[in-house]
Amino acid sequence: MGRIFSGVQPSGNLTLGNYLGAIRNWVKLQNDHECIFCVVDMHAITVWQDPEALRRATREVAAGMLASGVDPKKNIIFNQSAVSGHAELGWILNCVSRLGWLNRMTQFKEKAGKHKENASVGLYVYPNLMAADILLYKGTHVPVGDDQKQHLELARDIAQKFNNDFGREVFPLPEPMIFGSATRVMSLRDGTKKMSKSDPSEYSRISMTDDADMIAKKVRKAKTDPHPVPDSVEACGDRPEAKNLMNIFAALSDQELKEVCAEYGGQSFADFKRALTDLAVSKLAPISEEMQRYMDDPAQVDAILKDGAERANAIAAPVLKEVKEVVGFLQP
Ligand code: TYM
Repeated sequence: MGRIFSGVQPSGNLTLGNYLGAIRNWVKLQNDHECIFCVVDMHAITVWQDPEALRRATREVAAGMLASGVDPKKNIIFNQSAVSGHAELGWILNCVSRLGWLNRMTQFKEKAGKHKENASVGLYVYPNLMAADILLYKGTHVPVGDDQKQHLELARDIAQKFNNDFGREVFPLPEPMIFGSATRVMSLRDGTKKMSKSDPSEYSRISMTDDADMIAKKVRKAKTDPHPVPDSVEACGDRPEAKNLMNIFAALSDQELKEVCAEYGGQSFADFKRALTDLAVSKLAPISEEMQRYMDDPAQVDAILKDGAERANAIAAPVLKEVKEVVGFLQP
């Protein structure tokens, strides 16, 4: 396998969705692959971010990766804005990508809401920057949650068009890696909506910084239906909230959904939620404690990011040089 690239936005607290859908998988990949993991602060500012909060969230997301076990010696961990090639290649790809392609992006439609005219232009071209993130390193594999699938298809289209337009195989076509039992963790308040950092309801998500009491409260308040725990995967069918909680349990305990159904099927949700709380606390509390340790020492996090940015730049610079050459830019 070639080179792995993935990223997380520092647009709020890391959620259980980010952990189960992405970061936990990165930890599994890091031993056998060359990996680059990025805190995508330039993506975050496509919607308003308070500058101080952005700085804090950038460190916190980095702390979350480190605390989850992403090793800064084995991998490159850095923040996007520290490597200027992302912006430079982003611009070139803005000129390769097509309006018609961007118009199909469902995430833009969701995030821009009813008043599209008020959305930033950055939010619209966001997927082009995401393609630049990956292609700047000639990334070949991208481990993400299910919600990023469409953006990755676009990244492939952009890579392919660039290669065709210039008649050179400059970029590989990056492959999505969507794996594990929690590729789409849903909101605790609405089993048809994705769990998200930006949901206005704090009770819709478990954050990686939540303490045991908060996790217990959120799980207790999580929406369910009046029936007992389903006893088979088929019985989860039209019960999205029940299925979501059981999927979370399966992912956290490294089991299949069917095993969780077999063990808890027929019990009350009150009992199941108690078991889920114990499991979530036992898995997440050590991570949140370690995150706090990093947050108490921001200089350590900054040093890791700085070192990562230098190493990232060393890979990016020759790629950018090649791209500029191919495009026809004079490089005096
Ligand atoms: P972001 O910051 O929204 O999410 C980071 C990662 O977490 C995954 N994820 C989830 N997985 C399962 N269930 C959920 N509820 C859930 N919520 C989030 C996401 O799929 C993602 O893998 N555009 C990207 C960031 C990005 C990027 C990139 C990713 C920028 N450039 C280049 C890969 C490669 C985003 O907004 O992720």
